[in-house]
Amino acid sequence: MDFNNKTAIVSGAASGMGLLFSKNFASLGGNVVMADINMTDLNKYVDEINSAGKGKALGIYCDVRNYSDVKNVCEKAYNYFGNIDIIANFAGGTAVRVQKVDFNKYPEFPDIPIEVYDWGIDVNLKGPFYFAHAACKYMREQKGGLIINIGSITGMEGDGCGVDYPTAKSGIMFGLTKSLAQFGSKYGIRCVCVSPGPVLTRPEMAKMKTLLNRAADPQEIIDLILFIASEKGQFINGTNIMIDGGRDAMRRNQV
Ligand SMILES: NC(=O)c1ccc[n+]([C@@H]2O[C@H](COP(=O)([O-])OP(=O)(O)OC[C@H]3O[C@@H](n4cnc5c(N)ncnc54)[C@H](O)[C@@H]3O)[C@@H](O)[C@H]2O)c1
Repeated sequence: MDFNNKTAIVSGAASGMGLLFSKNFASLGGNVVMADINMTDLNKYVDEINSAGKGKALGIYCDVRNYSDVKNVCEKAYNYFGNIDIIANFAGGTAVRVQKVDFNKYPEFPDIPIEVYDWGIDVNLKGPFYFAHAACKYMREQKGGLIINIGSITGMEGDGCGVDYPTAKSGIMFGLTKSLAQFGSKYGIRCVCVSPGPVLTRPEMAKMKTLLNRAADPQEIIDLILFIASEKGQFINGTNIMIDGGRDAMRRNQV
């Protein structure tokens, strides 16, 4: 695979799969605009990628909940590299976990403050929506581009406590991905959602069952995304691809 002269904007690039995708894409010659709220880690990894001497990296602060931040990333990416070929929407997470909700104090869905769920809806749903809106202006001009959304097995299953997460993820897996593919078709813009089961960006994900009795190595997810972005993956469009070790195919009493 060769991503020379291609530019990818990656949200959630300071950690986990966003970071791994950024490193892989740059190692294959592509330029990466790495966007995150965690500038300490982001700056460190931007330097690391630039020192490797292949594709270039640029780090920009971006809270994906703010449209002005998202627009700023697209503007800077375009001004710096001259094109925006890929948007990879990795920023995300389950609000009750990320916001460290105390279940002794807030035991169930209606008890958990709405602000906690606001975070989850805003990061997981509005973030990818904002990036698509801001980036499609550039992709329409250049007559091409790829938007990669990251869904989740939870978008298929639901979660009676972390309700924001499957709500947002199923929104991007189906409605957003299909709609953007429809909009983009006359401009050569594709949109694909990749929806993992458990991925070992955190050790506790190993507890989640799959038919293969293991969680994914993060690289397995990134390899699929690189394929979709490569010359060989150009016919993949407007769809959600599960990469979950068969968890979605498990009988309900096995989960
Ligand atoms: N790890 C899994 O098992 C798994 C499974 C299915 C789907 N996913 C999805 O994959 C994606 C990446 O997961 P991961 O485990 O690599 O994540 P991670 O927690 O390692 O990284 C998430 C990154 O997003 C950043 N971020 C958080 N809020 C942000 C905001 N408002 N604006 C910009 N950046 C923000 C964080 O700083 C962090 O760098 C997420 O969308 C997640 O929902 C993960």
